[in-house]
Amino acid sequence: EIDAVEAREILDNRLEPTLRVTVRTEDGTAGQADVPRGRSRGVHEAVDLRDGGDRYRGKGVKTAVRNVEERIEPALVGHSVTDQAGIDALLRELDGTPDGSNLGGNSLTGVSLAALKAGAKSHDLPLYRYLGGPAATTIPIPLVDLIEGGELGASGLPFQEHQIVPTGADSFGDAIRMCAEVYYELGDELAESHGESALSVGDEGGYTPATMTDPRDAFDSILDAVRACGYEDVFELGIDAAATHFHDPDDGTYRLADGTYTRGELLEFYAELEETYPLVSIEDPLEEDDFEGFATLSDRLDAQIVGDDLFVTNDERLRKGIDIGAGDALLCKINQVGTVSEAIEAVETARENGYAIQVSERSGQTADTWLAEVAVGLRAAQIKTGTTRSERTEQYNRLLEIEAECDGGYAAWPR
Ligand code: PGA
Ligand code: ZN
Repeated sequence: EIDAVEAREILDNRLEPTLRVTVRTEDGTAGQADVPRGRSRGVHEAVDLRDGGDRYRGKGVKTAVRNVEERIEPALVGHSVTDQAGIDALLRELDGTPDGSNLGGNSLTGVSLAALKAGAKSHDLPLYRYLGGPAATTIPIPLVDLIEGGELGASGLPFQEHQIVPTGADSFGDAIRMCAEVYYELGDELAESHGESALSVGDEGGYTPATMTDPRDAFDSILDAVRACGYEDVFELGIDAAATHFHDPDDGTYRLADGTYTRGELLEFYAELEETYPLVSIEDPLEEDDFEGFATLSDRLDAQIVGDDLFVTNDERLRKGIDIGAGDALLCKINQVGTVSEAIEAVETARENGYAIQVSERSGQTADTWLAEVAVGLRAAQIKTGTTRSERTEQYNRLLEIEAECDGGYAAWPR
């Protein structure tokens, strides 16, 4: 039974406040979880409640802390900690809004995840096993963001992430080692071609060559590094275009470095990229409400089309997409929707309908490794958690541990 729910304001990788929630049970176990935060957020996400005012330039989370301690804790004390669905339903009922704007989506996510962790502890199980049962022994394929642009990097690139995807590796351990070697090699090449400043990294720990503006240059540099390492058979490419963030809602056009693209021209550009490069994953190719455009691309391209801002891990939006064939994969970010149970609901819908599942970080997070656990526990074949910096590498370290712990197999692309 839950005995106490505590919250604190802590700092994330951007030195910005976020929530740390602890759920304690009568028998003395406790689960603690840190809440992530996106920068390139979708408008349909759950509300991330911030204090406003001058403190931390308005980004404080003291109101969310108070909501957890004064409004959520009294309702949860006495509740069974292993009844995740009941806890999450209660959180939703207490909040009473569709977008979590009353108590804050961040409060809901923090309590939901902390309860999940406390539940695992009370069963004396690792989180991935508690969540996924004995069958959860497959380690997902990482999509590693080598070059950043858009809102997350100071490069001139319009797309947010240029990823390598080690679809041809035999194990997670081998995959991450080869990703690291390509990362070092790419660093050497970028320093030479774009100067040392290209080695600065963005929010997810990928390089940000300031003078690079064309996605094709990013792909060419990455493929050069892959070839120099002799790993042509191992790697394919992915992008998160995060197109909402270079879309002009006034006239419906998209702004890339070399000019303005109509929707149709942008669709042609993706087709051209797929023809030229071993591109297997395209996230958010169009703005967050263009379900028809996503369907057109899913139909036309072999690469998987991933819905992030489109679906926001929301079952209802995912079902709307499935109905018209929009997208091939669900990006799963728990804090986009609010609670663990709602994310599971979307994941199950994705699985039943043949959509791939990619569990994803946020650009703002901490070294808390629940993400790695959840990816294995949800039996996702894909994980996206950035590149360097400890809040990223700790996820990889935990996946390496899990791989060793359960003699885990490596996922098959894409599901
Ligand atoms: P965010 O970016 O965490 O800032 O939303 C990551 C993404 O768009 O996938
Ligand atoms: Zn995205």
